[in-house]
Amino acid sequence: MKNLLKILSLLTIAGFILTSCEGPMGPQGPAGTNGTNGTNGTNGKDGKDANETCKLCHNKTIVEAVAIEFEHSLHATGTAYEEGTRNSCAPCHSHQGFLNVVTKATPATFTGPDAAGKYVNNYITEASALNLPGGIGCFTCHSALHTNYAGTEFTPLATTAAVKMTMWGAAKEINFTKTDGNLCAKCHQPRPVTATTGNVIDYSKLISDPTTAYALSSIGYRTGVHYGAQGAMAAGVGAIEFGTDYTQSAHVTGAACTTCHMASPTGMAGGHSFTAAGNFKGCNATGCHTTMSATNATFTAAKADVTALLASLATKINAAGGGNNIIDPATGYFNIYDSGSNPAGYWKTGTATPTFPGVTNAQFGAILNYQLVLRGGGAGVHNYPYIKKLLENTIAAI
Ligand code: HEC
Ligand code: HEC
Ligand code: HEC
Ligand code: HEC
Ligand code: HEC
Repeated sequence: MKNLLKILSLLTIAGFILTSCEGPMGPQGPAGTNGTNGTNGTNGKDGKDANETCKLCHNKTIVEAVAIEFEHSLHATGTAYEEGTRNSCAPCHSHQGFLNVVTKATPATFTGPDAAGKYVNNYITEASALNLPGGIGCFTCHSALHTNYAGTEFTPLATTAAVKMTMWGAAKEINFTKTDGNLCAKCHQPRPVTATTGNVIDYSKLISDPTTAYALSSIGYRTGVHYGAQGAMAAGVGAIEFGTDYTQSAHVTGAACTTCHMASPTGMAGGHSFTAAGNFKGCNATGCHTTMSATNATFTAAKADVTALLASLATKINAAGGGNNIIDPATGYFNIYDSGSNPAGYWKTGTATPTFPGVTNAQFGAILNYQLVLRGGGAGVHNYPYIKKLLENTIAAI
């Protein structure tokens, strides 16, 4: 039914453009006085047949084929775009919010302090783009579509520019050599932890002052870096880098999100489904792998190693709870009571008992790293050398 409506409206618009392209009539000649009328002017020239350019895309192998793939993606089926009514969520959650920060080149910086000592996070969508937020669709990433109705308008993509990280108040950036990946990382990037002043916290203290009790921000159930950790992990930038000896996977320069997530489809993955799980066509390409598969030992060993390191890190973090978890190992959320979102949380902040025991700076940094790796998904596939070193150094630091 949705498709039928689209086709009907397509035909209507095509019909409208065709009619309007016949060209204007020439001016009427002057009316005679009690005599014969003047001669009519000549007709205008015929317009171009707009329908021809529509068909370059609106056919079974392009728009229709990709739309079917896209219907398998969480971009199309998910409801997280409903968060796009809030200015701080809209940059990544709605069609309008994303294009607003892209077209306005909204900076990821924080500004302040004002007279009251407060800071503002500049990375927000303008109020004019917040009502009735739309989901992520063709026109979000292919923002040039329907500009001149030319067949080439799938490019340029909405943005492929280096991404100044909002988590770091623009002090760090994600920049894939294959710049298509920057389109994804613009949304799939972690979010900042902010102090009560509203400013981004000074993450360097988590490393330089490890044993001090963490007091750079309040801590609640949701404290952390949000979900879009993939961009940071795949680019190997922006974690709380305890220790030294970090190296990067060949994926960082040789691949980008699109290489693996938009490879030609296999089964339920690939293309515009945007999922990589179970599709190894992007891996087995010239200059990359030849025998990569779900049972390939390099792949299974990396995943097993990262899964085990994550489990060790969770155990070590949770040891600070004296028998009660500090974080939920399955989600990376704090095990703190929240009447709406986490009524089963064990620790109560404030005066109610049992009071949250608190964490040290290093433990807080370790929790951010745990969230980054866990929520980054792919259990190490994105950037195994970096992720492995990050987890090992973090475990050693707490
Ligand atoms: C560069 C490729 C391209 C060209 C050329 C093109 N379209 Fe589209 N059009 C698209 C895509 C992609 C969609 C979104 C399809 C979807 O959401 O499944 C779309 C959607 C539409 C829709 C559905 C309503 C909407 O906006 O989502 C209509 C109607 C439409 N196009 C009309 C036209 C007409 C008329 C022409 C020619 C004058 C044309 N298009 C030319 C790519 C193109
Ligand atoms: C406009 C922001 C935005 C852009 C650009 C974007 N994504 Fe997403 N992506 C999201 C959001 C938001 C979700 C979750 C949607 C939901 O749950 O409703 C998501 C979901 C996904 C998922 C499914 C995750 C899961 O948990 O199953 C994958 C995979 C994905 N995106 C990959 C990509 C790739 C690859 C690109 C670049 C080609 C990309 N995304 C570009 C915002 C974006
Ligand atoms: C910097 C980009 C960005 C911002 C800003 C952002 N999100 Fe997200 N969010 C994402 C991405 C990307 C995903 C999907 C990641 C995935 O599925 O792996 C996501 C996922 C979600 C989900 C789905 C989680 C799930 O798995 O069910 C919710 C709910 C959500 N965000 C709420 C919010 C809210 C509320 C705000 C504002 C307070 C917000 N987000 C701000 C990028 C962002
Ligand atoms: C999340 C971002 C995103 C969304 C949403 C999206 N695309 Fe794409 N699309 C891309 C990227 C990135 C590429 C380039 C793929 C590559 O590098 O292999 C692409 C490539 C294409 C191409 C090939 C273009 C060429 O080079 O000739 C077509 C056709 C296309 N998309 C159609 C669509 C249609 C139709 C929709 C909606 C049903 C859609 N896309 C939605 C990101 C997106
Ligand atoms: C080298 C290939 C590769 C690159 C590059 C890559 N991914 Fe992945 N990604 C994967 C694989 C493979 C999985 C699934 C692993 C598994 O089987 O658990 C995955 C998992 C994910 C997931 C979890 C949901 C899902 O679809 O399984 C998200 C979301 C995601 N990647 C997003 C991204 C984004 C965004 C980028 C770029 C910033 C990116 N990935 C770069 C290969 C890659």
